[in-house]
Amino acid sequence: TFDVTFSTAGHNVPSTLYGLMYEDINSGDGGLYAELIQNRAFQQVTPGTSTALTAWAALGSGKISVVKSSSPVSPALPNALSFAVPSGTTSTVGFTNSGFFGIPVTAGWTYTGSFYYRTPSPPATKVSGSFTADLRSTGGTVFTSTTVPFTTSATWQQATFTFTASSTQTSVQNLFALSVGGSTVSGLTMEFTLISLFPPTFNGRTNGFRMDLSETLLDMKPAFFRFPGGNNLEGETAADRWAWENTVGDLVDRPGRVGDWGYINTDGLGLYEYLQWIEDMDMEPIMAVYAGYSLNGASVASSDMQTYVTEAINQASPIEFLINFVIGDASTNAQAAIRASMGHPDPFTLNYIEIGNEDFFSPTTYADYRWADLYNALHAEFPQLHYIATSATSGNVPSLSPAPTYWDLHIYSNPNFFINGAFNFDILSRNGLQFFQGEYATTTQNNGAALQYPFIDGSIAEAAYMAGFDRNSDIVFAASYAPLLNHVSSTQWTPDLITFSPNTVIRSTSYYVQQLFSLYKGDFYLTSTTNTASTPVQWSVTRDTSAGQYFLKVINTATSANTVVFTLPFTPSHTTGTGTILTAASGTQNTPTSPNAAVPSSFSFTAGKTIMYNTPGLSLSVLVVTD
Ligand code: AHR
Repeated sequence: TFDVTFSTAGHNVPSTLYGLMYEDINSGDGGLYAELIQNRAFQQVTPGTSTALTAWAALGSGKISVVKSSSPVSPALPNALSFAVPSGTTSTVGFTNSGFFGIPVTAGWTYTGSFYYRTPSPPATKVSGSFTADLRSTGGTVFTSTTVPFTTSATWQQATFTFTASSTQTSVQNLFALSVGGSTVSGLTMEFTLISLFPPTFNGRTNGFRMDLSETLLDMKPAFFRFPGGNNLEGETAADRWAWENTVGDLVDRPGRVGDWGYINTDGLGLYEYLQWIEDMDMEPIMAVYAGYSLNGASVASSDMQTYVTEAINQASPIEFLINFVIGDASTNAQAAIRASMGHPDPFTLNYIEIGNEDFFSPTTYADYRWADLYNALHAEFPQLHYIATSATSGNVPSLSPAPTYWDLHIYSNPNFFINGAFNFDILSRNGLQFFQGEYATTTQNNGAALQYPFIDGSIAEAAYMAGFDRNSDIVFAASYAPLLNHVSSTQWTPDLITFSPNTVIRSTSYYVQQLFSLYKGDFYLTSTTNTASTPVQWSVTRDTSAGQYFLKVINTATSANTVVFTLPFTPSHTTGTGTILTAASGTQNTPTSPNAAVPSSFSFTAGKTIMYNTPGLSLSVLVVTD
């Protein structure tokens, strides 16, 4: 039996404690970003190659290829899909796109589409006709369609259309098709680009986020969103880094980039879209800036940091521009005016800037000049912001000058690490430092075997570690599991908190752990101790002061039951409490074929000054007691 007693001590729980870490790692294009067309603008591909045609196929006898347009739609989008129709063609011709490993067809959804087109050598007499835009099965059954009028012209025209699906298809093996009667376009060569199709989006935003994924995240009530990386901030080289200025403005002005996770980022999910969605989700951003270190292991040389830093003081730094885009005064600042022109005249909320991501991989250059160069310049310009330094482990922070107050720590390990590390933050001195556990996850079993999906043993071990976040939330101001999301058909990092397909979302066992800690965060931590060893049981008690509720979290990392007896510092007014428990047999995982193998369930219990709770093996329970 674990007897838990309380002292009079305690501390506030920061409102930022539980949130999300996000980067586009098999989860932005084709994931959070609701765009359904893959390779919509042929960004960053080499014309003439088959890879350039990824996701596209010809329909009928028309020939498609990706070309460098002689008159591109914009400097940012030099390529186009060339569609050549042989003379004498009479049957239907066109092309299809297979989406990001499928396209969902859902009854009642109105899809919004658009594309640019032109005829490089138009006939002397203009040709007019109609394209048909539709969603169809790979077998050719059309589910919804509309006609889109066109007239040949050497200059680019934009066509827009909508259609509404009247049935839901279980299979996502569907295609978007754009087709036209062959006799209308016989002998013509046309170019197309930025061919886009959106389903309804979260909060109805244009160029917005996927609804079901947003709602799944909203169900966690996350406090913050760390973005844009992660490694995807850094680029393979400095030239490839995430460059915010390429991600704002009209979609035709976004060139996209070769992301760090093996595919092209369209940057349709740009800085503005992220910030608007973060606001819609009632989160605050923790925004990272590039700090002169990239994944090829090279640091920007001290003399070259001028590009990133000195210009900041001269009002010409991409990073200062970035911050002014987010929080500047739109009436006086050019970057803030871009934000206003996109629809948000008021500044966004911004309190935290992280300087780099895992820059400890080059500790010498970070310590010698990169941290200081960026911190000094940015702090001088934006003294109201908190600057977070990146580091390796909680006990081993490098020596930086000026000394950071805020540190981001990352750890990926096995269940035993998290169980044994539950007191990692208790042993740190209270010297003013504040910690962000910006990335952590159980990635392997204790024997080292890799995990494709979180498993209950690891998720409960994470819960034990998270009791340490609650307990040490006087010095841990934020924590987020990573990675957040991955596509079931395309991934290179497992496990992830949430796995999705084009039409399903799988909440992992670790998702439910994160959700329970976030929903029952409270605003005050009550210090307590037990009479016995700290393992296998961990616990934490917090209070929601205005609701007059106490949250007793109990984590049992053993496979067998244990008993915990709480002697509360008050007598509850309600003698019946409500509880929520996540528990499952060792090895249990939520997977695409078994998405609900372990889900939380509720129960009631007798609440008094003393509460005896029998905690099942491998469980996280939250007991809610009313004062
Ligand atoms: O979360 C996946 C990766 O792990 C992140 O991009 C990086 O910061 C860490 O190494």
